[in-house]
Amino acid sequence: MPQPRYLISFDSRTAVHRFADVLVIGAGIAGIRAALAVPENLSVLLVTKDRVTESNSSYAQGGIAGVLSPEDRFENHVEDTLIAGAGLCDREVVERVVHEAPGEIEQLVKWGTQFDLENGHLALTREGGHSHRRIVHALGDATGHELMRAMIATARAARHVTIWDDTFTADLLTQDGQCVGAVVWRPGLGTVLVWAKQVILAAGGCGIVYRETTNPPVATGDGIAAAYRAGAELRDMEFMQFHPTVLYVAGSARYLISEAVRGEGAYLRDIHGQRFMLDEDPRAELAPRDIVSQAIFRTMERTQHPNVYLDLSHLDPVMVRTRFPGINRVCRGFGLDITKDRVPVRPGAHYMVGGVTVDKEGRTTLPGLWAAGEVTSSGLHGANRLASNSLVEGLVFGASCGRGAADAARKLPDRFTALPLSNRVPEEERVNGLDVVDVTNALRALMVRKMGIVRDRHRLEEAAADVGFWCRYVLAREFDNRPGWELQNLLTIARLMIDAARTRTESRGTHFRSDYPQPDDAHWLRHVVSPAREASA
Ligand code: SIN
Repeated sequence: MPQPRYLISFDSRTAVHRFADVLVIGAGIAGIRAALAVPENLSVLLVTKDRVTESNSSYAQGGIAGVLSPEDRFENHVEDTLIAGAGLCDREVVERVVHEAPGEIEQLVKWGTQFDLENGHLALTREGGHSHRRIVHALGDATGHELMRAMIATARAARHVTIWDDTFTADLLTQDGQCVGAVVWRPGLGTVLVWAKQVILAAGGCGIVYRETTNPPVATGDGIAAAYRAGAELRDMEFMQFHPTVLYVAGSARYLISEAVRGEGAYLRDIHGQRFMLDEDPRAELAPRDIVSQAIFRTMERTQHPNVYLDLSHLDPVMVRTRFPGINRVCRGFGLDITKDRVPVRPGAHYMVGGVTVDKEGRTTLPGLWAAGEVTSSGLHGANRLASNSLVEGLVFGASCGRGAADAARKLPDRFTALPLSNRVPEEERVNGLDVVDVTNALRALMVRKMGIVRDRHRLEEAAADVGFWCRYVLAREFDNRPGWELQNLLTIARLMIDAARTRTESRGTHFRSDYPQPDDAHWLRHVVSPAREASA
């Protein structure tokens, strides 16, 4: 079904125009890092659709992985990443990120991030799939909050960086096969055409496409959907990572219980008190996430119980409370004492492993457009991301995008001509009269049921039919508000994810198909590239 090229109408003869050397879309770790890598003699406009503090990065609990201990080696971190990635990582990318990680962590310290210390050195913890302690953290379990505080303060103090919050990026502007800016909507100004010499997309993931997710409400895949509409290549959209331990208590809004809890020794038990991970994998609770999430799913089916339990009762209570103050506080709010009570958990959508294809520096297939962080498929994560490798990817690729975009921008002339673009939508298609919340809820529930941890042909075909039906009457409309645009993006993403899951007839990493339960290296040791967008209306 053809999808209109742009979400909103605009006419460049009458629209408001803004100009920047580099436009950065997204205020998570990758976006801010990119902005800070652009030299001060170039102008950066950074736009984000909510408050600048609202990103997945700000909610990160566990930490940032990097080789910082004399007992660890770069090769170990590389191997752990490759093993978790189940055959689809790009070794060169993995090696580069692993080698640059300690330098990026040091840069965060210079910008004022207060990581937790032990005997005067950075305290290091473990998480699933890591052979060594190599994860730095802050405020116990509020790493993202602390590092984003320091990075946002640094960006606000940088005179060449202008931050526009509450500004929704509807689409990327393209002209003659190049990305030349973005169409954004900003309160007070309305539709603004931002013309930029280079654009960096760092708009994060799309966990909200699932009803059960650790992601904040902003994670609606706007960047992935906009890149797709602009013609950039996407790949591996079937690989949604499910975090094994999300608090499962009515009213808890699916709060994440960090993997670091298991890293510090917590056990997973079924309803009968059995430690089921011992039978599943030699690494038990510290196996990579895909293995633990799938084991929990099978355990819930076997026991006919909607969750399993995290047990910390054998750990030192002082350590538990000091190390996990946020988790302790939230659980206490539900009458749970994490040092004594078993904590009910089940898996929830956590991280989009696929996304916009980028090369080793962060260039997308669309000239003029760079991308970094969760919005991308960079080759670092393969078919399953190793815990705490996402913030570090955002830092390393954010920095290289900022530098690369700056170099490219410098070679382009200073002035732009506002080209006569328009995207008129026939008046009759502007009619609303649609319950956006209802369709959004139906989509998110369907994704859990039919495109969840365990998939099969039958359920995927049903999902494709339902989403296709909704797309027919939602995508052709024009909305004038954020929930409507987000629904259009979520539907676009869901369709791409389901198509990719139907294509990959094997099980690998986060993608498990009960009708093809084994990996099939002969056919599928490769990426699934999303088909190009159909001709625009
Ligand atoms: C966690 O704290 O478990 C999340 C860390 C991550 O997603 O890498």
